[in-house]
Amino acid sequence: MAGSGREEEEAWASGLPPEGSASGSARIALYPGSFDPVTLGHLDIIERATRIFDRVVVAVLQSATKTSLFTAAERMSLLEASTQDMSQVAVTSFDGLTVDCARNVGASTIVRGLRAVSDFEGEFQMALMNRRLAPEIHTVFLMTSLANVFVSSSMVRDVCRHGGDISGLAPAPSILALQKKLRP
Ligand code: COA
Repeated sequence: MAGSGREEEEAWASGLPPEGSASGSARIALYPGSFDPVTLGHLDIIERATRIFDRVVVAVLQSATKTSLFTAAERMSLLEASTQDMSQVAVTSFDGLTVDCARNVGASTIVRGLRAVSDFEGEFQMALMNRRLAPEIHTVFLMTSLANVFVSSSMVRDVCRHGGDISGLAPAPSILALQKKLRP
């Protein structure tokens, strides 16, 4: 891992860049989203990102416009539990602009997942807006695996709510939390 001084390691643990430097020499990527809850599709993107970047900060949008089933703290803890074996991954939360969050954690890249062509238009618009707001930050799109092309958090919630089998769609912590919340 590049740039592994103690100060930088501590800054990394806190999700913040070391004082007085943008990001050291580590390539840091921000993966923002609502993660309500994290699915295997999200984990697929996170895993792919760890192969490209030194560090991946997964950022949970606190006050999403959509009403969320899980609180931001719950969504963060499900992400933490699901990524505990990935040492390059840290989880944080943010409100406001994604580019500001990227700057705060020292990320020069925003990662987004693409599942189908239908994702592209909205993602393209977001990427261009983010570029206008922060030209120094790039957006990189990673293609999800075929097995996860149809997976979304709302679909997993819906299937669980109606008693369907969600194994193979979400990690164990998400499945347990969904069952607790939706099928008490
Ligand atoms: N696998 C499975 N599902 C995936 C996925 C993947 N790889 N990638 C996305 N999804 C699903 C999510 O589960 C979610 O499903 P749902 O709608 O059924 O819950 C849906 O796709 C949208 O996902 P998400 O990645 O959470 O995007 P979002 O649209 O909720 O949030 C932000 C995107 C956070 C990046 C965007 O809203 C944002 O930047 N907000 C901050 C404000 C800002 O900066 N605005 C200016 C830039 S536009």
